Amino acid sequence: MASLYSFLVFFLLIFTFLFSIAPLPVTSSHLYPLNSVITTETSNYTKHRHKWVGPSGHRLITVDVHGYGEFSSVQAAVDSVAEDNRKNVVIQIGPGYYIEKVVVPASKPYITFQGSGRDVTVIEWHDRASDRGADGQQLRTYHTASVTVFASYFSARNISFKNTAPAPMPGMEGWQAAAFRISGDKAFFSGCGFYGAQDTLCDDAGRHYFKECYIEGSIDFIFGNGRSFYKNCELHSIATRFGSIAAQDRKSPYEKTGFAFVNCTVTGTGPLYVGRAMGQYSRIVFAHTYFDDVVAHGGWDDWDHTSNKTKTVFFGVYKCWGPGAAAVRGVSWARELDYESAHPFLVKSFVNGRHWIAPSDA
Ligand SMILES: *[C@@H]1O[C@H](CO)[C@@H](O)[C@H](O)[C@H]1NC(C)=O
Ligand SMILES: *[C@@H]1O[C@H](CO)[C@@H](O)[C@H](O)[C@H]1NC(C)=O
Ligand SMILES: *[C@@H]1O[C@H](CO)[C@@H](O)[C@H](O)[C@H]1NC(C)=O
Repeated sequence: MASLYSFLVFFLLIFTFLFSIAPLPVTSSHLYPLNSVITTETSNYTKHRHKWVGPSGHRLITVDVHGYGEFSSVQAAVDSVAEDNRKNVVIQIGPGYYIEKVVVPASKPYITFQGSGRDVTVIEWHDRASDRGADGQQLRTYHTASVTVFASYFSARNISFKNTAPAPMPGMEGWQAAAFRISGDKAFFSGCGFYGAQDTLCDDAGRHYFKECYIEGSIDFIFGNGRSFYKNCELHSIATRFGSIAAQDRKSPYEKTGFAFVNCTVTGTGPLYVGRAMGQYSRIVFAHTYFDDVVAHGGWDDWDHTSNKTKTVFFGVYKCWGPGAAAVRGVSWARELDYESAHPFLVKSFVNGRHWIAPSDA
């Protein structure tokens, strides 16, 4: 591995020389820019395909709720980052509860939230979908997140995100309450916690990699139209009467989005659907995953029973185990995959990870 890494570093140096571009960040952060292409709509660089326009330089910002850092709020630290940021910015966040709503705008890529441990550094807020915003209108689900990231190349390590609104009783409307929303491309999460009830993690859009994270909730607690790889994560249900883990919103057969859960563990209370067809072409795969005895009869839900989603979704299971694993194979339209059909979902290339995740992080 070391020699492969050296080779890649060498390649990058040559590349840097040839194109006379800024020094590359090969030492810190997860960024691993092998001829990366920035494809966000707002970028002015999409015409220069294969020309790396990534960050150069570093900045460390310290945040401490007790006043021992440069800032005592996370949003204040984000606000201090320049528009169109081009540096690797690490925001180091000390132990404590940060009771605030945080937004990382699209104009500030390359930011890392570095906590002091997911049990000790927590950012939390408590908005629900039916709460009123400043304009008097209901917030709606996507605007409830305690932390929202629109920027590309965001990462978070060893930190938790919570929405502390109380869990709804079954049938209650307007209680969706997200802890985190990721709408930026190429986001990396390691050792993070996500705590909420209904709609905890809004995996909205872009390519995302979640490693060794803990995600807790009751209904659709991972949802959206992201293209995401979840590796070695614990998915923990606090559902009281019925719950569901993942609701994926792929809308056409041409979208590359979907959720791949690999070597995860499913724990908590049930009964629980493991996946729901939020979009007509929803894609969800569980591989090498352990299921406690919490899976609902049938295992999967087609969302509305009227739009024939059972014919268009891609729900797959590959080599799962545990007392709940048999129930995950409970409907004919969620198939047991063979190696060939499972393989695209088992590797980080599902999110093009080779281009932006360092080998040591994958
Ligand atoms: C793109 O370029 C235009 C004109 O040069 C500029 O006004 C705009 O702010 C740029 N957008 C970004 C995202 O850099
Ligand atoms: C699978 O997950 C478990 C628990 O999270 C971990 O100990 C183990 O190393 C993982 N296996 C692989 C191959 O990543
Ligand atoms: C679902 O399929 C049935 C029978 O194939 C058809 O009559 C119906 O219009 C379809 N509904 C939708 C929403 O596509």
